Amino acid sequence: MTLLTYLRRKLGLTGTKLGCAEGGCGACTVMVSRYQTHTQQLLHYAVNACLAPLCSLHLVAVTTVEGIGSVARKLHPVQERIARAHGSQCGFCTPGIVMSMYALLRNNPTPKMADVEEAFQGNLCRCTGYRPILEGYKTFTVVRHKHSRCVSNVILYKPISNQHVSDCKLCVFEQEATPLFTATDFAPFDPTQEVIFPPELMSLTKGQRSGSLCFRGDRAVWLQPDSLDEFLRLKWEHPDARVVVGNTEVGIEVKFKNMVYPVILAPAFIPELNTVTHTEDGVVFGAACTLSHMGAVLKEMVKTLPPHQNEVFLAVLEQLLYFHPISDLNPVFMAAGCKLTLMDKDGSRVVQMDDSFFTGYRKTTLRPQEVLLSIEIPYSKKNQFVSAFKQSPRREDDISIVTAAMSVTITPGTDVVEDLGLSYGGMAATTVLAKKTASRLLGRRWGEGLLEEACSSLAEEMTLDPSAPGGMVTYRQTLTLSLFYKFYLMVLQKLRRASKLTLAVCVSVTCVLQAVPEGRSQDDAVGRPMMHLSALKQATGEAVYCDDVPLYENELYLALVTSSKAHANILSIDSSAAEQMPGVVCDSDSLMSRLVTFLFSVQVTCVGHIIGAVVADTQLHAQRAAKAVRIQYEELPAVVTIQEAIAAQSFYQPIRTIQKGDLEVGFKQADHILEGEMHIGGQEHFYLETNVTLAVPRGEDGEMEVFASTQSASKTQSLVAKALGVPANRVVVRVKRMGGGFGGKESRTTVLSTVVAVAANKLKRPVRCMLDRDEDMLITGGRHPFYGKYKVGFLNSGKVVALDVSYYSNTGNSMDLSLSVLERALFHMENSYSVANVRGRGYLCRTNLPSNTAFRGFGGPQGMMVTESWMNDVAQSLGKPSEEVRRLNLYVEGELTPYNQILDQFTLDRCWDECLSRSVYQERRAAVDLYNRQNRWTKRGLAIVPTKFGISFTAAGALAHIYTDGSVLLTHGGTEMGQGLHTKMVQVASRVLGIPCSKIHISETSTNTVPNTSPTAASASSDLNGAAVQNACETLMKRLEPYKTKNPKGTWEDWVSRINLSANGFYKTPDLGYDFDSNSGRAFNYFSYGVACSEVEIDCLTGAHRNLSTTIVMDVGHSLNPAIDIGQVEGAFMQGLGLFTLEELHYSPQGVLLTRGPGSYKIPAFGDIPTQLTVSLLPSTENIYPGIFSLQAVGEPPLFLAASVFYAIKDAISAARVESGISGPFRLDSPASAERIRNACSDRFTKLCPPAEPGTFRPWSVQV
Ligand SMILES: Cc1cc2nc3c(=O)[nH]c(=O)nc-3n(C[C@H](O)[C@H](O)[C@H](O)COP(=O)(O)OP(=O)(O)OC[C@H]3O[C@@H](n4cnc5c(N)ncnc54)[C@H](O)[C@@H]3O)c2cc1C
Ligand code: FES
Ligand code: FES
Repeated sequence: MTLLTYLRRKLGLTGTKLGCAEGGCGACTVMVSRYQTHTQQLLHYAVNACLAPLCSLHLVAVTTVEGIGSVARKLHPVQERIARAHGSQCGFCTPGIVMSMYALLRNNPTPKMADVEEAFQGNLCRCTGYRPILEGYKTFTVVRHKHSRCVSNVILYKPISNQHVSDCKLCVFEQEATPLFTATDFAPFDPTQEVIFPPELMSLTKGQRSGSLCFRGDRAVWLQPDSLDEFLRLKWEHPDARVVVGNTEVGIEVKFKNMVYPVILAPAFIPELNTVTHTEDGVVFGAACTLSHMGAVLKEMVKTLPPHQNEVFLAVLEQLLYFHPISDLNPVFMAAGCKLTLMDKDGSRVVQMDDSFFTGYRKTTLRPQEVLLSIEIPYSKKNQFVSAFKQSPRREDDISIVTAAMSVTITPGTDVVEDLGLSYGGMAATTVLAKKTASRLLGRRWGEGLLEEACSSLAEEMTLDPSAPGGMVTYRQTLTLSLFYKFYLMVLQKLRRASKLTLAVCVSVTCVLQAVPEGRSQDDAVGRPMMHLSALKQATGEAVYCDDVPLYENELYLALVTSSKAHANILSIDSSAAEQMPGVVCDSDSLMSRLVTFLFSVQVTCVGHIIGAVVADTQLHAQRAAKAVRIQYEELPAVVTIQEAIAAQSFYQPIRTIQKGDLEVGFKQADHILEGEMHIGGQEHFYLETNVTLAVPRGEDGEMEVFASTQSASKTQSLVAKALGVPANRVVVRVKRMGGGFGGKESRTTVLSTVVAVAANKLKRPVRCMLDRDEDMLITGGRHPFYGKYKVGFLNSGKVVALDVSYYSNTGNSMDLSLSVLERALFHMENSYSVANVRGRGYLCRTNLPSNTAFRGFGGPQGMMVTESWMNDVAQSLGKPSEEVRRLNLYVEGELTPYNQILDQFTLDRCWDECLSRSVYQERRAAVDLYNRQNRWTKRGLAIVPTKFGISFTAAGALAHIYTDGSVLLTHGGTEMGQGLHTKMVQVASRVLGIPCSKIHISETSTNTVPNTSPTAASASSDLNGAAVQNACETLMKRLEPYKTKNPKGTWEDWVSRINLSANGFYKTPDLGYDFDSNSGRAFNYFSYGVACSEVEIDCLTGAHRNLSTTIVMDVGHSLNPAIDIGQVEGAFMQGLGLFTLEELHYSPQGVLLTRGPGSYKIPAFGDIPTQLTVSLLPSTENIYPGIFSLQAVGEPPLFLAASVFYAIKDAISAARVESGISGPFRLDSPASAERIRNACSDRFTKLCPPAEPGTFRPWSVQV
């Protein structure tokens, strides 16, 4: 059992969350403390409870988020500051982040900003964009605003000097308005007041007699020897026993690969395995030393040793920096010739870590009875140079694509190679040495000739099969050369004693927003940066999410049985093995007597298609039994990719067209015509809280209560009712809050809730299911991948006069919301540009992938991404600056869109000008050009991109009760998923009722209070529900009016009398209804506008990139809550940044999703925030906006602004291509991954590694 399961299920401590179960998200972070007797030190670690075996915690104190503070008792400053700095939106990541920070402060009460960033390397947040978290926690640091990595203290500034243009050497700001939070209001942090280590544990630890521990479970025995001899004896007796130290490897195998290890040996606390010994040749680390400890020891040594001895240590530290243990340290150990001491009961032997040590994938020369005692890392010698490299999709906490370590010894006084070691990870099943290349280069001079020979030799030696697991074959081969080239330059630099180039890195974040107008009453909360109402509870772990609802006494757990084939007939289902498994629950009238299985279909149409479900007493039992169900398939041909669907004409109907003007005339008028295409990859929602439902039969009249994490309470209600065969009035759906939704919980949640409700109904017992991260990713679909093909006609000036564009979306195995998503892509096909003659067509590709669905932006980002591609091509083909061509084509007020909607209340031009000036665009451009002239292997790029996002949605309801004590219970149709909707609704009610927010409470969203609601989606929930809340509150105020008139000096409590103090409200967006056939009618209620400018730097040799700066200007009208709105802008931007530059879903050619968790699917982390980020809300004094209190929707529109980063990358690649003599438009698909960037920077190294001929091999993954 893991610590997390124990905390949540046995102790009911649900503050610690489950986000992935694989150590990749940090939601489960707790602090463990241990007293180390031999050093007499108290050690505190931040630990992932999802991987920590309960057995490993003997004599350990565990501190969870509940243990450090609570809203009821007293908040810990770590909890208070993240909440008040607006660093908690959905809050699901918050307890983990709180505990990472807490553990840091326990070890270091005065950290630097760099320590804070390092502490968060294992924590992910999908909502906030990270800035506010860093802002809040910067208040604990000692260096606040100097030239280290820093985050500006407060918001609301504008730069007054252009010095930010280059490397942000100076952080000078001029204040414009008041801050979003006041740090001086925070309770002080006093490290002496922390909870002490339990004295009983301390004395138990000190007085502990030697003795081994043994824990017996139903499938495994855990043996914890207390001495080396005992360890060796046990290993001798149980040669097949698995040794476990941190369990980060074995834990994953047990959880995800169904491995069973009957005997586990846990030697983590044996002193010999934890010691560090300094020898003549180097330093020896015991095999159980943690990587953090190794890092700390090496850092100290580096400070005192002569520099020439540190080369290997520095290389190890370099790899540890981004935390890449197995594959990433092995190359260094190998290149440096580290020695391993292996031991068994009869003695020890020392082996050199070379390529004979690894005998196969995860296999070594260790004999079954042997264990690793220690590793010796040698000092480097004079004239030895060592470097380590790692390339991974994301900089922090990510598995590498290729990792390498290189060591060269030069004959003293010369530049001749005496010894050379080149080792690579990621180029074979094990770490490998490029032996042939190394021997060829011995005796050669370190110069151009050697480089040429090394590259051609490496290209021959470091080859990969085109079908190699992991894919990216050409890229990985090129990397072996590129990394050598980096090493070559580094050594050359050292030989010439050239000084190393360093860049000052300074993270600065600036937000500009409108101040509340002077004279507005303090009681009027509208427009104020009020903290998210649940933020404090979220930070203490007291906020209740669906899976935190306490267990019912007779509750059962459900596990899904899903298809492993993309397209197949089911021939048989054999559940006999599952039926025998412990805990599985009987259902007497089921066909399979003891197993509850619901067969939904005889044909499966995607991998992950739900076939049935198993119910058992616990999650573990249900999941084990589900895995034991055997299914026989008859496979049918599958369509997986868009291209396959086009070839097979596999489309859903209808095919949509929007057409305006005359294409023929337009193309005739054009001076130039170009054609192009682009593919935009899909995206996983990666809400931190996966899908979860708890269904509770009420025992009468077929009533069912459903607790669900859904954006669509009403949809869930109607589908559950349908599945149960009861009217909707028997089903109540309750949604307290969600740990993120982003569209993924709009329709696809019903797939799970209906199954769970059917099981509960069948068994007449409460049934719960929370999908594991891998199941959620496999089953629920995500953002639609799109392929766009275009032909564009334009004048010499750059003015576009004709556009013919076709969109193909990978819809998956059902329509779901795909038609509306495609329509939105078409509605955004011209983004913000006026094109007189235009035709857009949209095709829905029917494929054998899980059904794709709504995702923030809902097709708009894909539509606009293709627009920006042709706009970029136009500029490139004319050789004109892209911002000039974009500006030339921008709409002006009063123009008509291709779907004949007039653009009124147009503020895009203002956003554009504001963004140009705030980003100091022209100076920045000049600086980028200068940089590119001066640097060959790194290039910078710059792009400014606009967005125009249509807002429309249907109706909403609200219900407000006033109780006689004056308190108000408010309910509305929207759900809270972190976007702060409830907070905003309370602000609206507060203004209309004229009472402080503290008198108003929102408990939940439920179908028995506000019926027939729209899903909370499409950015319009504040508009819609706000109007409904306003309506309900105005009704109440009308009823109270006579009492106010009668007693004008009375208080709210005086007026509240025994009249009808309950009112509902309703709002429907007027005059909406677009008709595709006649191209008429209003598609949107209004548009939201924004512009962003980004600057990036790419490493042309590895494809890595850095986000240097982003300036966003967004028009949100009159913000209801600027803190929440800024949070939405930043969160959406970071999600877009993931979409366009980082996140890649890999599917096998057979349609199997290969990326099913944070280990393989990378969402942006703390380190991906642009070094300089400026977010401004367009100042607005006019009441021109149609939304409630003149607000504009903000949830989705800013997401597309991250395209500015993509096009800045494309700009930088163009600069690299120019160096190789290539100019003009080129295709770059999204995301702009390191692989794509490297391959696009065509140069002499890429030429040495040509890709295999398509069709001659079966690739590991395909572009779907
Ligand atoms: C979120 C996450 C991210 C990760 N990222 C990376 C990454 O980027 N790069 C990377 O390379 N790895 C990565 N890993 C893998 C992980 O960090 C390594 O596997 C780790 O070094 C294993 O250490 P452990 O003590 O936790 O492993 P354990 O699971 O306890 O043991 C690992 C293996 O070593 C064996 N073993 C342990 N001690 C001995 C001994 N004394 N003698 C003989 N055999 C022994 C065990 O039997 C087991 O086979 C990641 C893991 C997680 C959970
Ligand atoms: S790291 Fe433990 S749940 Fe994600
Ligand atoms: S607030 Fe971080 S995941 Fe939602």
